[in-house]
Amino acid sequence: MRERDTPRTFRVKSFGCQMNVYDGERMAELLAAEGIAPAPEGEEADLVVLNTCHIREKAAEKVYSDIGRLVKAGGEHPPMIAVAGCVAQAEGEEIMARAPGVGMVVGPQAYHRLPELIARAAKGERATDTDMPADAKFAALPARRKSAPSAFLTVQEGCDKFCTYCVVPYTRGAEISRPFAELVREAEGLVEAGAREITLLGQNVNAWSGSDSKGHSLGLDGLIRAIAKIPELQRIRYTTSHPNDVSQGLIAVHGEVEKLMPYLHLPVQSGSDRVLKAMNRSHTAEGYLRLLDRFRAARPDIALSGDFIVGFPGETEAEFEQTLQLVAEVRYAQAFSFKYSPRPGTPAAAMEGQVPREVMDERLQRLQAAINRDQLAFNRASVGKRCSVLVERKGKHPGQWLGKSPWLQSVFFEGDAAIGDLVEVELAEAGPNSLAGRLLETAVA
Ligand code: SAH
Ligand code: SF4
Ligand code: F3S
Repeated sequence: MRERDTPRTFRVKSFGCQMNVYDGERMAELLAAEGIAPAPEGEEADLVVLNTCHIREKAAEKVYSDIGRLVKAGGEHPPMIAVAGCVAQAEGEEIMARAPGVGMVVGPQAYHRLPELIARAAKGERATDTDMPADAKFAALPARRKSAPSAFLTVQEGCDKFCTYCVVPYTRGAEISRPFAELVREAEGLVEAGAREITLLGQNVNAWSGSDSKGHSLGLDGLIRAIAKIPELQRIRYTTSHPNDVSQGLIAVHGEVEKLMPYLHLPVQSGSDRVLKAMNRSHTAEGYLRLLDRFRAARPDIALSGDFIVGFPGETEAEFEQTLQLVAEVRYAQAFSFKYSPRPGTPAAAMEGQVPREVMDERLQRLQAAINRDQLAFNRASVGKRCSVLVERKGKHPGQWLGKSPWLQSVFFEGDAAIGDLVEVELAEAGPNSLAGRLLETAVA
């Protein structure tokens, strides 16, 4: 690679989960602290960071098409391209070999070293950094300065569960919990910077553990109680939880901390115990349902969400129907469903009985129809309720605002409000993906 100017502007494009969104924000702050400015809307950036996702084949392939597009659009002066995120971690060397337009590859545990890599790229050196250093990435990042009303805060990284279909334990490494004091500080910083809602993030967020200043050990519920004490913080959420890491304390906190929103994303993947076992999920469908009963007992209005995979190797029609039964029993407010995608290096990719694409397509359609039915029913049952809405942005029409209900529904309303306000709304009309609300009064935020 030839020498080139140090970039003056950047753009970060994040794909995949919310943890990537969080990492993307931290990278943007880091680059800004280095004197590189965000590229103005609609203008080419000197440096483009592709913050990638490896979870399914389609997500991973997207990287190469994006690189191709960037190189082509740049013509004589293509941007400096950095590939970050989970594809970087999993396929760093392959990307370097396959895509000469890429200047650097940086893994999710190494992105605090991006400035060094950029300096090297400017000298014409292509470099890969996919180390998983034990040293504190977070300590090396600049403090939080500006935040949207709803902010993400990664509290736990990595995964030790090794579900047989999943790449995350390989791309994100072993489970680690960030220290309690550091998290409280970052939460306070986010609130000072404008956040009114914080979503605590982790691949298995409820596996978070730590200890307070007195040395008492804490679980996620303890962390939730601590950040609930930040006066201007109005709402707390957390995602994603694993059924096996649910503690009684976490269930109880739903009934006790008002700022904790009545919403739970608890993936189950399948309603068949045989499939769950083959997935190495270490829980049964029944065990999952009884857990949900306990959450509902603690917080009767809790909205439930989940993740599903259809067409896991060997999944029969009868086993798939057990998933439909589980869905019918839970009545999710929202849920995500995916076709099984064989991932390199995972045990399931080598299993017999890979399900044909047409069968997967058909199962996904049936599952999504069931989920959509329940989501619409949940939204319809909300009509007439009065609730708070955190205003996140302007709507399409003049005077219209868009925000989220406590149950994570998108709510549109008209009237006197501003981004970041927590307003009272009466839910008036329900669609499958959003509700229309009537503004009651503006609460003092
Ligand atoms: N740690 C979280 C989320 C992991 S990834 C959890 O365990 O719940 C988000 C979702 O992607 C998973 O819940 C699963 O439904 C889906 N997923 C993961 N690997 C997949 C694969 N190989 N094919 C299809 N879907 C997959
Ligand atoms: Fe993947 Fe399972 Fe870990 Fe979730 S719990 S990240 S699905 S291995
Ligand atoms: Fe994707 Fe990595 Fe998240 S694989 S889902 S970006 S942890």
